[in-house]
Amino acid sequence: MNSNDPTVTCSFCKRKVVAKTQYDVPIYDPRSGFSLCANCIKDIYHLIEDHKEVEEAQQHIETEKAINDELNRIKPHMVKEYLDQFIINQDQAKKVLSVAIYNHYKRMKYGFQHPEDDGDEIEKSNVIILGPSGCGKTALLSHLARMLDIPFAVTDASSLTEAGFVGADVEVAVRNLYYAADKDISRCEHGIIYLDEFDKIARKSGENNTITADPGHEGVQQALLKMLEGNVVEFTARGQRKHPEAPTIKVDTKNILFIVGGAFVGIDKIIAKRLRKNDANMGFGSKIEGKNDKPKFDELIHQTTPEDLMKFGIIPEIIGRLPIICTLENLDEDALLRILTEPKNAPVKQYQKLMEMDNVQLEFDEEALRAVAKKAIERKTGARSLKGIIEDTMLDVMFDIPRSDDTRRVTITADCINNGAEPTIEKI
Ligand SMILES: Nc1ncnc2c1ncn2[C@@H]1O[C@H](COP(=O)(O)OP(=O)(O)OP(=O)(O)O)[C@@H](O)[C@H]1O
Ligand SMILES: [Mg+2]
Ligand SMILES: [Zn+2]
Repeated sequence: MNSNDPTVTCSFCKRKVVAKTQYDVPIYDPRSGFSLCANCIKDIYHLIEDHKEVEEAQQHIETEKAINDELNRIKPHMVKEYLDQFIINQDQAKKVLSVAIYNHYKRMKYGFQHPEDDGDEIEKSNVIILGPSGCGKTALLSHLARMLDIPFAVTDASSLTEAGFVGADVEVAVRNLYYAADKDISRCEHGIIYLDEFDKIARKSGENNTITADPGHEGVQQALLKMLEGNVVEFTARGQRKHPEAPTIKVDTKNILFIVGGAFVGIDKIIAKRLRKNDANMGFGSKIEGKNDKPKFDELIHQTTPEDLMKFGIIPEIIGRLPIICTLENLDEDALLRILTEPKNAPVKQYQKLMEMDNVQLEFDEEALRAVAKKAIERKTGARSLKGIIEDTMLDVMFDIPRSDDTRRVTITADCINNGAEPTIEKI
């Protein structure tokens, strides 16, 4: 021992320590004489480490509990029941979506329990939804989003363009999810992206389109493919212009569930053509040719295959990443009647609530509702035009009723809907 080495008394354990090097007493303040010896610092370090482990274990338990709680809350039949409150019919779509959501959570739980598997053990099943305009695609997904606890973002695919073109880059879809996740990257990486109006990015040279080449849309599909395949997507914060030095946010899309949807107008013709060809090949051609009633849209749409989507103008690599095809049906008169009155947010209920505030009891004759449904069918926009048709009739009522505070009953008849007749107003 070198007698020149200073001896320091540790302020904590009070041991006398010979400080051969600064590491024997790593903390030493010569002015106050406060010191901590290496032993004490090691002890404190271990204490902190142990506590961290306990905390992490606790966090792990809490996250697992949260996933389990969600799994119990979003069993397929429960999701469907929830959707039934708002969406009439479309049972197949509701079932497919409820199962897809449930499996998404299960996959999340599996990945959480087996982090070493890299989450690839249970494969992701992205969904493609097809169905006529105004039949509930966007509505289904927006109600689903409200029910779920994981981030869910809807992006309009028709607004996306290939990088370098005017418009939004495909990264916007992930950026929307990032904001839906309150900027929490790990939550975002387990979220759901709904790409609406997906048919609008079909290749224009697809069989359904007569316009020639349109490289922009194919470029968007190629860019989307990267996202669907599971890649790290980089984007800048909202409102930040994209330039080389701008700080970026990185999100891995490997575990993000993608749902895409669109009306795919004309796909029924592609399907019908394929079916006719098949029948002809099998020698049934003449039989089909002789049939004068065309196969119905609903029957056709349920038979959509990946090849039909390809013919429509979606690149095969993308179709390969969307293994679940989900179809919605046309809404007939009875379905439209139910949509008018049954859902929680049904148009009739909405107008009744509005009128109630003016002490008015609003009633629609059964025939009036039927007339609304018939008009909607003529307009060929599914349920979308229902509210507008009622609104046309309700405008005058809503304008005139507040002239007095009397308690009244207003009855809308078929004549009001069809011929613009005045509704009956009685004092009650
Ligand atoms: N099956 C349904 N049950 C209840 N309401 C419906 C149903 N289908 C459509 N609606 C109502 O009609 C309106 C239009 O529907 P939605 O936006 O979902 O159509 P869409 O299928 O997305 O059509 P598009 O292909 O034109 O985008 C919504 O306000 C929705 O509330
Ligand atoms: Mg829509
Ligand atoms: Zn000490």
